[in-house]
Amino acid sequence: MVRELGKSNSVFNQFLSEIRDVKIQQDRLRFRRNLERMGEIFAYEISKELPFEKKEVVTPLGTAHMEVMQQQPLLATILRAGIPFHQGMLNFFDHADNAFVSAYRKYDDDEEFVIKLEYVSSPCTDTRILIISDPMLATGGSLVAAIKGLLEKGMPKEIHVVSVLASNEGIEFLKKTFSKHQLKIWTGAIDDELTAKAYIVPGLGDAGDLAYGKKED
Ligand code: PRP
Ligand code: URA
Repeated sequence: MVRELGKSNSVFNQFLSEIRDVKIQQDRLRFRRNLERMGEIFAYEISKELPFEKKEVVTPLGTAHMEVMQQQPLLATILRAGIPFHQGMLNFFDHADNAFVSAYRKYDDDEEFVIKLEYVSSPCTDTRILIISDPMLATGGSLVAAIKGLLEKGMPKEIHVVSVLASNEGIEFLKKTFSKHQLKIWTGAIDDELTAKAYIVPGLGDAGDLAYGKKED
């Protein structure tokens, strides 16, 4: 399943257009805040797909028959750009457990890169509803490495992958790698191309640098 949220117009597309905009994205605080707001919207949309159960809630005037979430998800993200996006999801799934993974592109002299995964801090993922978010799904290398790291901690009952922007190549790589897991992939928009350096076009640029400043390769 692949859901592209930006296909139907909502305020989500306003936030997405701001983080793509070469002028507006120079305001780092706004860039991070927009990622957070989009994380909130994704959390809301994903919540509609999660299992709910009946609950009687005592109010000052009587009893309300409600439906509440059966379990809180496990929210995972990839450093660095994932941090504000993750925070948005955590604002809504406020009792969720959390997992953090580091993955980055390590370039060699020929401008080729490999994904380096050095840090996986997670509770057991067995039987959990795992939601892993990263704003950018380009080649898919980072998300594939991160999910593999998290699967070493157990077998989730559902895996949701959430990105603000995705490429078809990245989506196909994820689906192929985890064909047994029936991933649910949520994205804001699917852009057509990747550059020679594996940046999404038109994309938005380097999400981590825009949120937190340039890093050394
Ligand atoms: C970005 C982004 C993803 C990755 C996507 O991180 O946040 O993790 O690139 O690319 P991929 O699908 O080809 O793996 P980056 O490596 O730039 O690190 P940063 O967030 O620390 O800047
Ligand atoms: N990482 C980013 O931040 N942007 C891209 O376009 C690709 C990978």
